[in-house]
Amino acid sequence: MEKLRPGLRGVAERVASSINNGTLLGLGSGSTVAGLLEELSPILVVKGVTLIGVPTSTQIETVATENGISIVPFPGTVDLVIDGADQVDRRLNLIKGGGGALMREKVLMSSAKKVAVVAGEEKFAPKLCTGGVKVPVEVAPFARKSVKAKLSQLGGAAEERLLPKGYPYFTENGNVILDTSFAPVDEPASLEGRVKNIPGVVEVGVFTIKPITVYKIKEGGTFEVLG
Ligand code: A5P
Repeated sequence: MEKLRPGLRGVAERVASSINNGTLLGLGSGSTVAGLLEELSPILVVKGVTLIGVPTSTQIETVATENGISIVPFPGTVDLVIDGADQVDRRLNLIKGGGGALMREKVLMSSAKKVAVVAGEEKFAPKLCTGGVKVPVEVAPFARKSVKAKLSQLGGAAEERLLPKGYPYFTENGNVILDTSFAPVDEPASLEGRVKNIPGVVEVGVFTIKPITVYKIKEGGTFEVLG
């Protein structure tokens, strides 16, 4: 994370220019969003802007409140989502859900007026699932075995996510995660739809939402704006 800091500072300055009093932020989860909020907060204090946000997890809610952001219930839409990603392909499709917050992240992203995603350059690949990056699939516990079998029919090898001591991992919605390996994906929207359609699947960590702006942070603290 610390190597992203200089880049995050620059991205925070850019993002801050589109935030005013009353802007409702959707807050994705993970270390990148946490770092971005830490950079964004002092910039907005100087501008005299009070931030309000809808969090996607307890993790980011904690970071937000520590940085003076007021938390509000989700009213059905947000002005701007800021989020991270586990992988970004050349068409700006994403794999997300490494932190287990994929369902709320997709709900916010799909109902946002604008979407900004920030990722270090090492997360970019021509196709999703390159290099063994897995797709998190959130599943109702009752359906874990049937979904695993159906993912296998789609060419996916699913492993239930466990905590470090081997206990099952449960999302904040009370579901399990099947981290699923696929061959590099040619048609992410098709994969997203086919997995989402399996009974018992709550959400799939392939994100094809557009339009989207992606901030690609490079070594040395510069960044590129894509989308
Ligand atoms: C949370 O469930 C995820 O979608 C995160 O956005 C993703 O895992 C990226 O996390 P980091 O910013 O911690 O790498």
